Amino acid sequence: MKLNIALLAGDGIGPEVIDQAVKVSNAVAEKFGHEITWVPALTGAAAIDAVGEPYPDETHEICMKSDAVLFGAIGHPKYDNDPSAKVRPEQGLLKMRKKLGLFANVRPTFTFPSLIDNSPLKRERIEGTDLVFLRELTGGIYFGEKGRRDGGETAYDNCVYTRDEVKRLAKKGFELAMTRSKKLCCVDKANVLETSRLWRETVQAMEKDYPEVKVSYEFVDAVAMRLVQWPNSYDVLITENLFGDILTDEASVISGSMGLMPSASVGEHTSLYEPIHGSYPQATGLDIANPLATVLSAAMMFEDAFGLADEAKAIRDVVNKSLAEGVVTEDLSGKNKAYKTSEVGNWLASNI
Ligand code: IPM
Ligand code: MN
Repeated sequence: MKLNIALLAGDGIGPEVIDQAVKVSNAVAEKFGHEITWVPALTGAAAIDAVGEPYPDETHEICMKSDAVLFGAIGHPKYDNDPSAKVRPEQGLLKMRKKLGLFANVRPTFTFPSLIDNSPLKRERIEGTDLVFLRELTGGIYFGEKGRRDGGETAYDNCVYTRDEVKRLAKKGFELAMTRSKKLCCVDKANVLETSRLWRETVQAMEKDYPEVKVSYEFVDAVAMRLVQWPNSYDVLITENLFGDILTDEASVISGSMGLMPSASVGEHTSLYEPIHGSYPQATGLDIANPLATVLSAAMMFEDAFGLADEAKAIRDVVNKSLAEGVVTEDLSGKNKAYKTSEVGNWLASNI
């Protein structure tokens, strides 16, 4: 099969972790007889520096023409502490999500048997955890009208959702639940927020179309608590943009390292695959960042974008092998030898 993949390395550790995912993907392609064409394109601070814009039109064209997008990370500290910055790398990410119509962000959280004791949570609480967040990604407070008034003394960010936006996300949630344990949790704040009441009402009305799915409705504050108390009681969770942003960072801690969790963003055009961790600027260029989240994102890409389940399995198997044999970066190595990012990538590729 011919695979045309846009490669958006982005900022910080993005390029380093992306390199490893490319090595592993190329090894998989060789083993299974596929031909990958990687098309690199600029995003984030790297794109601002080069062309003054964090998601240039040329990058968008490349993404639209590709079969999938593999993405590293976006963000640079020189913009974080400068509230007056006119262009920010993150705007590129939001623009990309909007223009590619990536309305559903799929963020799984699972545990690796060999890493259970790396988690800050107790073994008996997290064993068997295997849940998926479907975070709405192109609406809500991230995209509502925002601004200042009263001479800058008042600031506002509006949270807006349409019924159709909720429906298309919830539909993916119900469908995913049908392929898993048929349990769906709708996370909202319907005791306070009107948008949450629309979410709840919309999901309730869809229940009749999926009679086998057992739906629970829980408030976001309670979910934040129960997620670290009993993560294995959840399966598929659907939620709006900001709640999903916060809860998926929280959930990533369960597995023991943020450097492990992959994600997929899907919607109207080309799907995008990226690690959930950020650009980790302190580690830029040091060859110490954990590449596994990006490598596992490539596995999601093989499976979901190309329907290549055996290829995805080959990647997941080799990742499990590296964890079991301790071929890991410093975030996971404990007292044992820490491997470099590039060494982990080389090891994975040669063990495919
Ligand atoms: C994420 C990130 C982004 C978000 C930032 C970088 C804009 O935190 O993908 O979760 O808030 O969506
Ligand atoms: Mn986030």
